[in-house]
Amino acid sequence: MCGIVGSIGKEDTVSILIKGLKRLEYRGYDSAGIAVIDQKGLILVEKRAGKVKDLENEIGEWKPDTNIGIAHTRWATHGEPNELNAHPLMDCKNRIALVHNGIIENYGSLKKILADRGHFFRTETDTEVLAHLIEEFYEGNLFEAVRQSLQEVEGTYGIAVISSLEPDKIIIARHGSPLAIGHSGGGMLVASDTAAIVDHTNKVVYLEDREIAQVSKDNYKIETIEKVIVTPKLQIIETDIKKIEKGGYSHFMLKEINEQTQIIKDSIRGRLDRESGTARLDGLDRHKKQLIETDNLIILGCGTSYYAGLIGGYVIERNAGIQVNVEYASEFRYKNPVVRKNSIAFAISQSGETADTLAAMREASRKGAVCLGICNVVGSTIARESEGGVYIHAGPEIGVASTKAFSAQVMVLNLISLLLGRMRIMSYDEGKIYVDRISEIPQKIKSVLDEADCIKEIAKLYSDRNNFLYLGRGFNFPVALEGALKLKEISYVHAEGYPAAEMKHGPIALIDKEMPVVVIAIKDSVYSKVLGNIEEVKARKGKVIAIATEKDSEIQKKADHVIYVPETIDSLYPLLTVLPMQLLAYYIAVERGCSIDQPRNLAKSVTVE
Ligand code: G6P
Repeated sequence: MCGIVGSIGKEDTVSILIKGLKRLEYRGYDSAGIAVIDQKGLILVEKRAGKVKDLENEIGEWKPDTNIGIAHTRWATHGEPNELNAHPLMDCKNRIALVHNGIIENYGSLKKILADRGHFFRTETDTEVLAHLIEEFYEGNLFEAVRQSLQEVEGTYGIAVISSLEPDKIIIARHGSPLAIGHSGGGMLVASDTAAIVDHTNKVVYLEDREIAQVSKDNYKIETIEKVIVTPKLQIIETDIKKIEKGGYSHFMLKEINEQTQIIKDSIRGRLDRESGTARLDGLDRHKKQLIETDNLIILGCGTSYYAGLIGGYVIERNAGIQVNVEYASEFRYKNPVVRKNSIAFAISQSGETADTLAAMREASRKGAVCLGICNVVGSTIARESEGGVYIHAGPEIGVASTKAFSAQVMVLNLISLLLGRMRIMSYDEGKIYVDRISEIPQKIKSVLDEADCIKEIAKLYSDRNNFLYLGRGFNFPVALEGALKLKEISYVHAEGYPAAEMKHGPIALIDKEMPVVVIAIKDSVYSKVLGNIEEVKARKGKVIAIATEKDSEIQKKADHVIYVPETIDSLYPLLTVLPMQLLAYYIAVERGCSIDQPRNLAKSVTVE
């Protein structure tokens, strides 16, 4: 949510910043801005509402004589996404420029104090108070002024600050919003996400919460806000640039959908132990005893990750016989949850930075649960703060609507269920069969993706509809929720996911000949019940798009359209049934001319509450 990039000591500062912003744009994209200090010691600012491309067009061939600058792409929280509110924001005398990710919660009271002291505010943002606060504290040392200012602030921040009074440094600080320093030949870079700087360096130092750094062209120092000197830990990151480019696809989302065959192979590589009919998950080894003893798991997540968690709940209860509570992280953290003595909490998050998930995990930990992470981004905050866990190995996910990360999360949850199952109630033979069925999934994913053209045709027929209903039962109920979410996110069509049997308790009132109903009707233990639900839709002239198991000819007679997926075991079906959902949403959004990778109002990583 929002992206920060900064550069010092390097030539071509403006193009480094613009390129960095483009790489960060998936995190927020309603406005963007850039500030540099020129050789005369003046801060020059360019800002634009809209995409980074609009800013780039605006600045055109602008090439100020500079080697220091900061830039920001915004996802608005306080104040409309217009040019004025775009970052960088400045102090009264235009001598300090600041970019900020996060929320300054006490900005109201700070603003009042500063206004009383004569500061003049130009924007509706929470961030601007910080620029004025730094101005207020400034006595010839920018690093100290920023440090003192942050002591007054409540909320979350990742900030980068420059000043014409000290044009040889960028000050950055972090609390709840990631930031890293990148070592690059002939200069230094700072960024909220290493995607912004991987073109220049793979050597980075991550800041921890409540740390502040002064970065100059050839060195840097890090301290805590409380003045403790920090020894930096240099890390080598392994981002393959190809993985963050579209590679010939028209959208990242389509690329990521198509990557799923490989991603699922990656997520299970080295983790299946056929000999013992179980899973091998090194990140859980240290917690073996607790995993054997626990009788309650809590799964915490938001958005798509929450839906993957719901599937995990079904799968773990079925395979391991442990009670699982799957909770929206945002609800869990405020409801004073009951955490049992031997509870284990899994925080599930693609980015590993979602504010609510992180806070929920901290709450669970405070109440005594062992906290484990299921994350994609290596080294992310949730991954670092959890006591152990499992990476999903989905690679960088750029499309705002999550696809491949969902599948990899579901696969990892299946592996966890297998491991826990074998520790408890699952026999060796059952375990071996499970291992075999899991190994077949990548090939089965490929065969569903090969049917994309048929789904595209269905999408064309229904792309003008304004409401969709998605139905599923058991393991596939969360898939119905995820299918509806995908459609809402990228095509702005209203869609509701429902447990199929619940349809008659309300949503059935919506059904008429205009209403497409996507029904997951695979041959599992509730198949005949779902067929009954299809009849109920047809009796009211609704249009049924069924996701069915291959060779099911019965369903052809009942549904208007059938999309087939190969046969597997019940708990692995979501890995196949979600694929038509993703493709249907994608092609409907294409037909409607939507901004698929950057849907309106959304952000990839939500680092504010
Ligand atoms: C945002 C994204 C969703 C994502 C959710 C949770 O809303 O747009 O795609 O599912 O955050 O993100 P996480 O990184 O925690 O999985």
